[in-house]
Parts: sequence; C-alpha cells; structure tokens
Amino acid sequence: MIGRLNHVAIAVPDLEAATAKYRDVLGATVSAPQDEPDHGVTVVFIELPNTKVELLYPLGEKSPIQGFLDKNPQGGIHHVCYEVDDIIAARDQLKETGARVLGDGEPKIGAHKKPVLFLHPKDFAGTLVELEQV
Ligand code: CO
Repeated sequence: MIGRLNHVAIAVPDLEAATAKYRDVLGATVSAPQDEPDHGVTVVFIELPNTKVELLYPLGEKSPIQGFLDKNPQGGIHHVCYEVDDIIAARDQLKETGARVLGDGEPKIGAHKKPVLFLHPKDFAGTLVELEQV
C-alpha cells in the first residue's frame, strides 16, 4: 500500500538553530522558513537526494505541535509521511484492520496541497504516520 517516504517531520524549539545545523553542519540545502497558518506551523524544507526533511516550528496560539514540544523540549521526530496512490482506498483498507485514523477520518489538504490523513501512533510502533496521496 505505502510507497515512497515523502518526508520526515522534526519538531524544533528553535527554527534558526535547527536550520543552521542542517545547513552548516550537515551541509544540506535548506529553504527559507515558510509560514503555514492553516496548519499552525512554520516549516523549513530540507531537500535530500531521495526524500525531504521538514523542520516544524509552532505558529499561532493553537499549533498542533506545541503539545509535542512541551513533552519533548529539545524537539524530536514528529511524524513520517508515506505516499499512497489512493488515499480513500488506503484509509478504508486500514480501518478494516482496526487502525485508527485521526480526526473525522476525511482527508484534509496538507502543506503540499495534496490530500493527507494521519494514523494513530499507538497503532504504528509509537510513530505518528501521515499518508499523502501523490
Ligand atoms: Co507532514
């Protein structure tokens, strides 16, 4: 069902410091910070030859990553995103296995303007999983 790893998202308490580390220490190509008000985050995209890393920093009062940072003050891996061809078919197949889809179960338009869903971390080895239809 799942295809390529689309991105790994890392929540960070200091976006400039994390960006500098990827750019200056790891030698990666990093984007300028991009505000995503609909998603409550500011994102820096790090392009790697085979996938992307996204540094997430809270934006606004009710950022969905604030709780994660409260529990993980130094930051950490927030979710991984796998590509699927058909998100509705993937969702229905997963639900049949008992996997929990977060929210109302309907795909939302994600930060890349494509439909996404999130799966409960307790069902996937303690990792929040995002599915993105590509
Ligand atoms: Co994501």
